[in-house]
Amino acid sequence: MLQIQRFAAQTVAMVLSGTSLNAALDSLWRRNRQLTSSERGAIQDICYGTLRHLGTLSAVLDQLVPRPIANPGLRTMLLTVLYQLEHSEAAAYAVVDSAVECAAQLGGEHVKPFANAVLRNYQRRREALLASAVLSDEGRFSYPGWWIERLRRDFGPDAERILDMGNKHPPMTLRTNIRFCSASAYLQKLREAGFDARSLDNGALLLAQPVPVDRLPSFDEGAVSVQDAGAQLAATLLDVRGDMRVLDACAAPGGKTAHILELADVDMTALDADAVRLQRVRSNLERLGLTARLQAADAAAIDTWWDGNAFDRVLLDAPCSASGVVRRHPDIKWLRRASDIAGFAAQQQRLLEALWKVLARGGKLLYVTCSVFREEDHVITGNFAARHPDARILGGMPGRDGLLLPDDEHDGFYYALLRKD
Ligand SMILES: C[S@@+](CC[C@H](N)C(=O)[O-])C[C@H]1O[C@@H](n2cnc3c(N)ncnc32)[C@H](O)[C@@H]1O
Repeated sequence: MLQIQRFAAQTVAMVLSGTSLNAALDSLWRRNRQLTSSERGAIQDICYGTLRHLGTLSAVLDQLVPRPIANPGLRTMLLTVLYQLEHSEAAAYAVVDSAVECAAQLGGEHVKPFANAVLRNYQRRREALLASAVLSDEGRFSYPGWWIERLRRDFGPDAERILDMGNKHPPMTLRTNIRFCSASAYLQKLREAGFDARSLDNGALLLAQPVPVDRLPSFDEGAVSVQDAGAQLAATLLDVRGDMRVLDACAAPGGKTAHILELADVDMTALDADAVRLQRVRSNLERLGLTARLQAADAAAIDTWWDGNAFDRVLLDAPCSASGVVRRHPDIKWLRRASDIAGFAAQQQRLLEALWKVLARGGKLLYVTCSVFREEDHVITGNFAARHPDARILGGMPGRDGLLLPDDEHDGFYYALLRKD
């Protein structure tokens, strides 16, 4: 327990000083190869949970210790332990006893009575502390204030549902490779293998519980991929047919590239600015038995990679704040700054302007983000269409005019299909 608490606290501390949770966990696994899969699972649970509920946990800790805690590592450790006491099934006495030892390792023997008093105090006054914690917006929703305000401005009373949805555990969803078998046949295989799953409207298969991929039937042979049901709409909306020239401009790790290639024998070019992430496109396509031309390039710098032959379809799955997938990446809530959103919007506009030039007349460009902020969604495509008389935004998109708000079945996405006249 002590080692798990120490590693979890160190990892959350790395996130709070600016590292992404994935990078912080990767570095922990690299430095501690001896950790078993159940120890890794326990550490991940504490890290994800603490970041999901950080606003509430901080509001509780601030009541327990009204003055600043000089040792930031100790403060973070107390937050992770409050998460364990509130949300884990571990016995409270064992959590507290080990946390007191952990505190000593972080701050010296003299901090033991302090850590012990804080945690026992929490156990005694829990209900009153939680009731006060949720009086502030940050304490109630566990997001930074600017994020809450932005969603209220964009969505009014629906904002609270979006915020609460972002603090839930995400579902695990599969995309069947229809070149391998149909979704209904794979659902049958899953059930025969003892997994509880159901089919959604678009054929995505929602698992009742997350499952390690190596336990999924025929995963290595390319039968299925893990992909959110909302993300699975892209390939169909792009409306591809065999022999089309298709560009996936921001392709890594290749979920949507692969889906398009599963649906039609298109001539696919997959770009990504990040050469390392592009390797993941390669390995995903290899597992599925699919091929594409892969290129590491800034998609907006078309002079560096484009041969002048126009594309019939362009997918622009733009880099964004990822505010629609925050339940999968709770670190995002604390890593983003309000000012980042304008930066993402500028990048999205730059990509859209450049990629419009490589699209053939009569061709279609699908603009996608996994953000629910309007500044990255309707504002980008609306302003673009207003500036370009040859751009027409087509109807028939899912959700609210292309905006899919996160719910129990899918993450948050924005889709806009533009036709070039
Ligand atoms: C939302 S992710 C794409 C997810 C991918 N389409 C999928 O479904 O698996 C955005 C990607 O854009 C890439 N990216 C960011 N800026 C870029 C640029 N200027 N040109 C090309 N790719 C870029 C990032 O490296 C990242 O892999």
